[in-house]
Amino acid sequence: MAHNLDIRESRPDDSAAIESLYPEAFPDENLLPLVRDLLNDAVVAISLVGTIDTRIVGHAIFTKCGVIGYRCNAALLGPLAVAPAWQRQGIGSAIVRAGLRRLRAANVNQIYVLGDPAYYGRLGFVKECSVEPPFPLPAEWAGAWQSQILGDTRTPCAGRLSVPPQWLRPALWAP
Ligand SMILES: CC(C)(COP(=O)(O)OP(=O)(O)OC[C@H]1O[C@@H](n2cnc3c(N)ncnc32)[C@H](O)[C@@H]1OP(=O)(O)O)[C@@H](O)C(=O)NCCC(=O)NCCS
Repeated sequence: MAHNLDIRESRPDDSAAIESLYPEAFPDENLLPLVRDLLNDAVVAISLVGTIDTRIVGHAIFTKCGVIGYRCNAALLGPLAVAPAWQRQGIGSAIVRAGLRRLRAANVNQIYVLGDPAYYGRLGFVKECSVEPPFPLPAEWAGAWQSQILGDTRTPCAGRLSVPPQWLRPALWAP
């Protein structure tokens, strides 16, 4: 990486910069209500920003979740955004890896994500077949539901991911 990326947990005074990042990264999708609702609540396990020369160039949220019927510490990754001028330079991957390290240290052992397998597969995610997302996905998105086990999970979970209300919006789970 040619740039000097620093990754840290977000702070309340980062909110303006985080809010300007999302419409840039997702011009066709308004994720701000979700991002605001998550950051205003203790459901967030970790919110990380990537900065270059103190400017926020990337952000990711990991939300605390469970699997219905199991005692497990799970998290859902999303959203993840990198400013267009800084994309494809390893920043998104570095933020995700930093989040995974922190979650592992916090005894979170299962991470779920809905996203492009070509991207998340490079970060260790594989297609999830036992734990269902909160809403049924369209057939063409089946491969986009992925997970990663951190550490040593001896009892695999099966069932449905239990997410906080911020994620219980069907539009977040449909094209
Ligand atoms: C998707 C996103 C978070 C990736 O972050 P990034 O910092 O650009 O990605 P990285 O530099 O870590 O990795 C890029 C690599 O992943 C690959 N890749 C695979 N699928 C990709 C995708 N959908 N978007 C970007 N890169 C992708 C690229 O080919 C690239 O590899 P290369 O450099 O060898 O060509 C960022 O591009 C972004 O914010 N995009 C707009 C918002 C978005 O689509 N978010 C979706 C998250 S599910």
